[in-house]
Amino acid sequence: MAERGNFGSKLGIVLATAGSAVGLGNIWRFPYMTGQNGGAVFLLTYIGCIFLLGIPGMLSEFMIGRHGQANAAKAYEKVSGSRAWRWVGYLGILTGTVILGFYAVVAGWCCEYLYASVTGKTLGDADYVKDYFVSFSGDLWRPVLWGVVFLLATHFVVVRGVRKGIEKASKRLMPILMVLLIILVVASCMLPGAMEGIRFLLQPDFSKLTSHSMLEALGQAFFSLSLGTSCLCTYASYFKKNINLLQAASQIALLDTLIAIMAGLVIFPAAATVGINPDSGPSLIFITLPNVFQQAFGGIPALAYMVSILFYALLVFAALTSTISMHEIGTAFFSEEMHLPRQKSAWIITAATALICVLCAWSVGAKPEIQIAGVSLMDFCDQLTANVMLPLGGMLACLLVGWFVPKTTVYNEFTNDGQHNQQFYHIVLFAIRYVCPLAILFVFLHQLGIV
Ligand code: TRP
Repeated sequence: MAERGNFGSKLGIVLATAGSAVGLGNIWRFPYMTGQNGGAVFLLTYIGCIFLLGIPGMLSEFMIGRHGQANAAKAYEKVSGSRAWRWVGYLGILTGTVILGFYAVVAGWCCEYLYASVTGKTLGDADYVKDYFVSFSGDLWRPVLWGVVFLLATHFVVVRGVRKGIEKASKRLMPILMVLLIILVVASCMLPGAMEGIRFLLQPDFSKLTSHSMLEALGQAFFSLSLGTSCLCTYASYFKKNINLLQAASQIALLDTLIAIMAGLVIFPAAATVGINPDSGPSLIFITLPNVFQQAFGGIPALAYMVSILFYALLVFAALTSTISMHEIGTAFFSEEMHLPRQKSAWIITAATALICVLCAWSVGAKPEIQIAGVSLMDFCDQLTANVMLPLGGMLACLLVGWFVPKTTVYNEFTNDGQHNQQFYHIVLFAIRYVCPLAILFVFLHQLGIV
């Protein structure tokens, strides 16, 4: 198990976990979900889910991982003392692999846009930008090629264990992403007609709150926090004993939420300005952002050109730190449980995800007949994982920690053997035992029309 040690410093691993959380979930998925679910009221539900359910869920996975000191399946077994709980680990590994498959499609789109920005092909009027997306994503090979290239890049990082380099890079690049987002927020909010978009994101219309939008907010919160696939549990197995778990979870949740809101403040004002419907789905950022760069900085073409390149480069990087974390769940499992060399187990995950990626890319492009239950394979994978598997995984992690792990273990993990956070112990335990599982159960039953 020599590999277990190779994961950076104390700060490094927390940064890596933040890197896992911050990604396309914030900048691509959050705006399009918000757009489809009524704007501000979705944002409010989302924030509620992050803080009431997300933080307790993150803490549960952290405690399981750090105490279990093993891959997901083994950690669940160790911490519970029962083999049956391994299945929660298996569920997580399966979910993480499916997510990685379709996530790579979108990461591939970002790569295409980075390439197109460099060659100056994203610049044109609103119709041109829309057509560009449709014709690129409808191509038989281009989206597939970029997706697979992205998976290979992920594979390479996971196998080589060059994560220390990645951690250092994230330390520098994450602040640049923040600064660039702030600049874009200001630029976008100053566009003519931006107010309508700002109102959409910030002025709630409670009539738009439905049981389905509640489920989507829950799924989006878990997706964005990387919660529910044992991804956080796997990363926490590399945490040092002196990391304050409550502090780490709160900081990551806050940062993650801020970045999502900023992305919303870039996209919606711009969409309102160019007359793009906020509910246009997964293509939303790809048909909106090029307009932002152009309209806001178009007076100085060289500036528009540079901003666009920088933004997509940062986006690709943010996606990579997330895909690494998804890949690691399965890679750690196969190498430790099946006693395979790390390289081999990584290839298993890369091959499986590449297959999912290719089929998903085609299902929203060249081969729309690839459908399950009346929706494209890509939408199906997205909805099944975010709306069912992630909440289920998060709920099971909470149930395990709340009801089956000895209280002294929970206390010692939560307070680092009585060093800090004692004052929050009871309230957090209450959230883990009751609030989180019951709320998720309620949302499920509500969606099914039972309550
Ligand atoms: N949270 C990441 C994002 O917002 C995506 C992600 C990484 C993820 N690891 C995960 C989602 C594990 C679910 C489960 O882009």
